[in-house]
Amino acid sequence: MNPVIAPAARAAWSRMRLRQSAHLRDLTAETTFTAAHLIQPLFIVEGLRAPQAITGLGDNARLGIEAAADAAARDVQAGVRHFLLFPVPASRHPRGQSAHGPRAAEAIKRAVGDSAHVWVDVCLCASTDTGHCALFDAGGGIDLDATLEALAVSAVALAGAGADGVSPSDMMDGRTARLRAALDEAGHARVPIMSYSTKFASQMYGPFREAADSAPRFGDRRHYQIDVRSRADALASSRRCADEGADLLMVKPGMTSIDLIAPIREATGRPTGAYQVSGEYAGLTLLAAGGLTDFDAALLETWHVFRRAGASYVITYGARHARRLGLPA
Ligand code: PBG
Ligand code: ZN
Repeated sequence: MNPVIAPAARAAWSRMRLRQSAHLRDLTAETTFTAAHLIQPLFIVEGLRAPQAITGLGDNARLGIEAAADAAARDVQAGVRHFLLFPVPASRHPRGQSAHGPRAAEAIKRAVGDSAHVWVDVCLCASTDTGHCALFDAGGGIDLDATLEALAVSAVALAGAGADGVSPSDMMDGRTARLRAALDEAGHARVPIMSYSTKFASQMYGPFREAADSAPRFGDRRHYQIDVRSRADALASSRRCADEGADLLMVKPGMTSIDLIAPIREATGRPTGAYQVSGEYAGLTLLAAGGLTDFDAALLETWHVFRRAGASYVITYGARHARRLGLPA
């Protein structure tokens, strides 16, 4: 037990008195956090024979389908209840089509069964020849109709392969409504949509783009991802996704969107999560590698902050460590 520090001020009520022991701190903690609130991403690379490390992401590697299925089964044993799959096809296509996503979804679902919920990212940047999240028309502009159609086809194929939920990350106007309609029409009315509803153009996606080989081959994503200087656009973007039928909303990157979580939840009434993106996670692993922080404690600190800020759930590359970090199931 810590020594009791006499309050300097003669106030009748001391804040320090309630911080002096773990019993008192736990009694008065305002948020709780469990392993059930975490989602573990998996990078599943078509045809990959041996795991490939990803700079800054610790034990998150690029894995072939079989290795990913084994990893998912191990993660379930470690208490993971939700996965977010990023299928990375071996070849690129001008229209961004690939059968690899559904195959990956099917394999992971088979490996984890009913023990976990399998979300699959829906986007085109890992499979288009441009590395963009959209298809382009002859004039070089975004072909919105063709893009929405490709996303809808992909979502339906994933649901058909056994994905328990789909997660559009492209940021195209109208994609959530389009996905909802396509899923319903194909008989997947029960498949939820976890939308990347407030996603900023950010420098924090570096390790991910290495992992998914999804860096744009020209230009950047500022014409479809949100500008960090904007608040109204950021809120409206999530509100629109809710109106279009998104079941779960999300801010991304998590830490730099922390001010928006509670307002989005209040405006929409929808559960809103935070994506602790690759660059944020790598920040912790690199600090720890330099001996500048205790990795486990720092990770737990960030998760608690997301929760305090109002996040219903957190997507994090460290979800599989929840039990080791002492979180309850
Ligand atoms: C691609 C996508 C990105 C992330 C998730 N889906 C990268 C991007 O938009 O460029 C980032 C996740 C991370 O950095 O961990 N649509
Ligand atoms: Zn994308």
